[in-house]
Amino acid sequence: MASRRFLILTVVLLLLESLASGTGGETVEDKQALLDFIGNVSISRQLNWNKDSSVCQSWFGVTCSGDGSRVVALRLPAVGISGPIPPNTLGRLSAIQVLSLVRNSLSGQFPVGELSKLRNLTTLYLQNNRFSGPLPQDWSAWRNLTVLNLSGNNFNGSIPSAISSLSYLTTLNLSNNSLSGRIPEMYLSNLVLLDLTNNNLTGPIPLSLQKFPSWAFSGNEVSFLGEKASPPYLPANPPNAEPSKEAKKLTQSALLGIILGGSAFGFLVIASLMILCCSKRKGNDGISLKSRKNEGIARKNGDSENQGSNDRIVFFQGCKYVFDLEDLLRASAEVLGKGTYATTYKAALEDATTVAVKRLREVGAARRVFEQQMEVVGYMRHENVAALRAYYCSKDEKLLVYDFYEDGSVSSLLHGTRRGPLDWDTRLTIAIGAAKGITYVHEQNGGRLVHGNVKASNIFVDSQGHVRVSDIALAPLMNQVPPPVMRMVGYRAPEITDSRKPTQASDVYSYGVLLLELLTGKSPVHSSSGDEAIHLVRWVHSVVREEWTAEVFDLALLRYPNIEEEMVEMLQIAMACVARTPEERPRMSEVVRRVEDIRQANPGSGPSPEIKSGRSTTTGTPSPLPPGVDPTTTRGAAAK
Ligand SMILES: *[C@@H]1O[C@H](CO)[C@@H](O)[C@H](O)[C@H]1NC(C)=O
Ligand SMILES: *[C@@H]1O[C@H](CO)[C@@H](O)[C@H](O)[C@H]1NC(C)=O
Ligand SMILES: *[C@@H]1O[C@H](CO)[C@@H](O)[C@H](O)[C@H]1NC(C)=O
Ligand SMILES: *[C@@H]1O[C@H](CO)[C@@H](O)[C@H](O)[C@H]1NC(C)=O
Ligand SMILES: *[C@@H]1O[C@H](CO)[C@@H](O)[C@H](O)[C@H]1NC(C)=O
Ligand SMILES: *[C@@H]1O[C@H](CO)[C@@H](O)[C@H](O)[C@H]1NC(C)=O
Ligand SMILES: *[C@@H]1O[C@H](CO)[C@@H](O)[C@H](O)[C@H]1NC(C)=O
Ligand SMILES: *[C@@H]1O[C@H](CO)[C@@H](O)[C@H](O)[C@H]1NC(C)=O
Repeated sequence: MASRRFLILTVVLLLLESLASGTGGETVEDKQALLDFIGNVSISRQLNWNKDSSVCQSWFGVTCSGDGSRVVALRLPAVGISGPIPPNTLGRLSAIQVLSLVRNSLSGQFPVGELSKLRNLTTLYLQNNRFSGPLPQDWSAWRNLTVLNLSGNNFNGSIPSAISSLSYLTTLNLSNNSLSGRIPEMYLSNLVLLDLTNNNLTGPIPLSLQKFPSWAFSGNEVSFLGEKASPPYLPANPPNAEPSKEAKKLTQSALLGIILGGSAFGFLVIASLMILCCSKRKGNDGISLKSRKNEGIARKNGDSENQGSNDRIVFFQGCKYVFDLEDLLRASAEVLGKGTYATTYKAALEDATTVAVKRLREVGAARRVFEQQMEVVGYMRHENVAALRAYYCSKDEKLLVYDFYEDGSVSSLLHGTRRGPLDWDTRLTIAIGAAKGITYVHEQNGGRLVHGNVKASNIFVDSQGHVRVSDIALAPLMNQVPPPVMRMVGYRAPEITDSRKPTQASDVYSYGVLLLELLTGKSPVHSSSGDEAIHLVRWVHSVVREEWTAEVFDLALLRYPNIEEEMVEMLQIAMACVARTPEERPRMSEVVRRVEDIRQANPGSGPSPEIKSGRSTTTGTPSPLPPGVDPTTTRGAAAK
């Protein structure tokens, strides 16, 4: 408890004030290097870089390490510096990790001499200056770079293939330069954002970069040869199953099991999932349709009495789908994901209806128990809960039918390579929506229902931007997951030894891990430079304890101005949720209140650390916003 308090105190000190540093041992060499830099350039605004004041505590744009011994970040956006970077100045800031000189009038060649001494550099923003000439051929000095933005200069020549050696690179923006020639292959497995627009590039887009959207190459003369072919359409004709009466005679489970493998995606024919429209049935109580053994589908509640105990499809109220067996026979299905308990498919019907079908493995519960639980879940309706539309239950197969969400899960939004990093507003929306959804779950069944499997891949964003929590209350129905697998998952609360017995408090823990994932952009279990697996919660604890808390946050979030307080607030909530003992964790209803307060407590105009440090003495402080970032638009952006 004492350590927790210490932790929160550290967070508050380090981040809310952001300039915390010891008074003793303040860097003298770095201070001199900064003074030499500013003394040797022409600058049109006055900085408050006073020789007699504390570099770490009051100089505009300067961030020191926790103990104040070194300068670790320098951000001087749009302060009117012109001319080349003078030699033997910035190069002496050898501990610097973030260098941002955006929107000045710096000129000359790429400052190789100075920058090559900055071996710990992770983020370099030089966009919107007047640098020219070729890019360096050798990038070995900057192996730690994760973000490189050189947009809006006059760099010419070709893109050096050595950029391919920057294996940690997540963002590369070379747009609006005069780069020419062919684009080299770049095998950058971490790259999520690429922008090469408005150059003079030619030739084909190399294979390694074809996963990026075509706009990333626009404004060039490149050819879009070898564009990705859409996945082959497999007509769903399982051997000896005609889409006719015959099919109905086959045992349903046999058909259900047919998976056409072989292609990258794998296709499944959900041959006997017989789904009928049930929207006509509004006003019925939840369960309305049941299939009759060997006879396809019955339409009325009353029909259920004839039924054997096998093979029933159960629909829930409000199901809007209109398709029948034949449609489903022709549906092709694509594997969306394989989880611990289930494989999920996207089933596309010819009438353009698409549903997500979850095929459960390892159901351990008795059929009765399973059906009871489905009834509880099937009744649930909330704008932050993914509605269970129908389920199918036979001895060998258990299928759940949900709406299909085009945008995919939060996990794919966060870690997928298809689009750029998630912006902060979307992350906040996800945090709030997920919290509300889980809270609603906790209110069901007399306040005793447990979600049991809260994780980023079970949370979706629908086309209206609503966050939807899925996979509710399945864990107790499943076989026990062996401990090593559980541990790998990273969302599991430490006190949970049996995966079938989650609690509301363990849901809160998992939700805390989700928040950390949103804040750090890292998976709950990830590997660092080495191959050693790192547990996110432990990692965040260690980082915060070592007083380099700002390192916790996703680099992709650094470009949004004025969100530090909000990020810190979210970090504090996350830390409370992942408390070691269940009693220490807040209840979900309390968590909702706190995440909803994040934005209210920090109205859009909250100053960034740069504003604070600049404001202390200077009046003509330049806008610390990165150019092109308009706080009103970033704030107003709705979740997509
Ligand atoms: C310019 O930089 C050099 C070191 O490179 C330093 O000795 C000199 O004092 C600086 N000039 C000014 C005016 O600060
Ligand atoms: C670079 O970073 C590492 C670890 O963060 C640190 O140990 C090292 O001292 C840094 N290098 C310099 C020159 O500060
Ligand atoms: C990358 O950073 C580590 C410490 O974080 C440092 O030891 C190493 O020298 C850096 N890599 C390069 C190529 O400078
Ligand atoms: C690249 O930088 C330019 C500004 O210099 C910006 O307009 C553009 O949005 C950036 N690209 C991406 C993908 O962020
Ligand atoms: C790059 O621009 C410079 C002038 O700024 C010019 O001398 C040089 O030839 C150009 N190089 C290429 C490859 O176009
Ligand atoms: C990039 O160049 C295009 C065309 O020259 C221009 O319209 C656009 O404003 C520039 N974008 C930035 C961010 O400088
Ligand atoms: C890039 O292409 C434009 C238009 O084709 C041309 O005017 C310009 O000179 C080219 N720039 C370079 C550096 O080759
Ligand atoms: C590059 O910098 C511009 C500001 O000039 C910013 O709008 C853009 O988001 C940055 N791009 C990346 C990919 O970081």
